[in-house]
Amino acid sequence: MRMLSVENITKIYGERIAVNDISFTVEAGEIVGFLGPNGAGKTTSMRIITGFIPPTSGTVVVAGHDVRTESLEVRRHIGYLPESAPLYTEMRVEEYLEFRAKLKDVPRRQRRKRIEEAMSRTRITERRRQIIGTLSKGFRQRVGLSDALLGDVRLLILDEPTIGLDPNQIREVRSLIRELDEERKLAILISTHILPEVEQICERVLIIRDGRLVVQDTTENLLRRSRVSGLVRVVIAGGSEDDVREAMATVPGVLVAYGEDDRQVTSPHAARGVGEIALRLETEEDVDVRDAVFAKVVERGWRLRELAAEQLTLEEVFHDLTRSRSAPVGAGL
Ligand SMILES: Nc1ncnc2c1ncn2[C@@H]1O[C@H](COP(=O)(O)OP(=O)(O)OP(=O)(O)O)[C@@H](O)[C@H]1O
Ligand SMILES: [Mg+2]
Repeated sequence: MRMLSVENITKIYGERIAVNDISFTVEAGEIVGFLGPNGAGKTTSMRIITGFIPPTSGTVVVAGHDVRTESLEVRRHIGYLPESAPLYTEMRVEEYLEFRAKLKDVPRRQRRKRIEEAMSRTRITERRRQIIGTLSKGFRQRVGLSDALLGDVRLLILDEPTIGLDPNQIREVRSLIRELDEERKLAILISTHILPEVEQICERVLIIRDGRLVVQDTTENLLRRSRVSGLVRVVIAGGSEDDVREAMATVPGVLVAYGEDDRQVTSPHAARGVGEIALRLETEEDVDVRDAVFAKVVERGWRLRELAAEQLTLEEVFHDLTRSRSAPVGAGL
């Protein structure tokens, strides 16, 4: 069942386009990652979806209700954990959830049950009497999650739910999110700029950059893509950096040749000798360029020191998809 339908939303602030014509859908039972670097437009999109701010144009439909014309109905069905969830730190956990349930118009007869359920789903029941201000950050985040689950929630919007937590808390909150929807009735949209988080939690990924949706795919496909798209590392001696780069960029099948130091990519073998040029070549899918690279090096009278096929990590795929438009030397884009 379709829980969220986002149709061509755009948000313009003065001269700045924060969100640029984004469309996607989320079905019940799905956990979708909303990925993008700082300032990409994640929070803005989420605030539009939850009805906190209106889009400049476009439509959002939540569980069959239009955010613009049926905002009350929509708010009943959305649980939202904002970027920095404001909690009342002097209140006890349970007290706070009662207060929030009232505020959210949860019918009096259902309140008890909903609060118990929310506390149990976020495993915070045994902390019900604790003052929120004395809870650890991870537990406070669970209170925020509990709060988000209080209404008749069909769609859960989590804006960077693990930011600021320590590694243990991050692990706990992630596994909690995975287990939140055992009955697969909820749709969950979770924003992050942390890739392992997406790999661990999400079945599907939306990547936005500069307000635009640049990729929409399953996590599995994205990982596969990172495996097949070719990457070759080559170390050459005897030529100038410019000459070597230019020559490599013109080898058939090579899309881009860039210096290893041009990018913050982790390389297991960074060491190289004086006068050696280390390059990475991004190649067309399923094309093995190594023989052609070797031939070119011989033709130019240079010396080949290393030539190896490598795998892109998801981190690098993401980097490629979200980097600014200035393309490196030889980019055929
Ligand atoms: N109220 C506002 N007025 C003007 N510009 C805004 C406003 N809110 C957001 N922006 C701009 O819109 C763009 C998108 O911001 P947004 O907060 O949605 O990004 P984000 O993807 O959530 O980033 P982060 O990862 O840092 O949380 C940014 O350039 C931001 O400066
Ligand atoms: Mg944000």
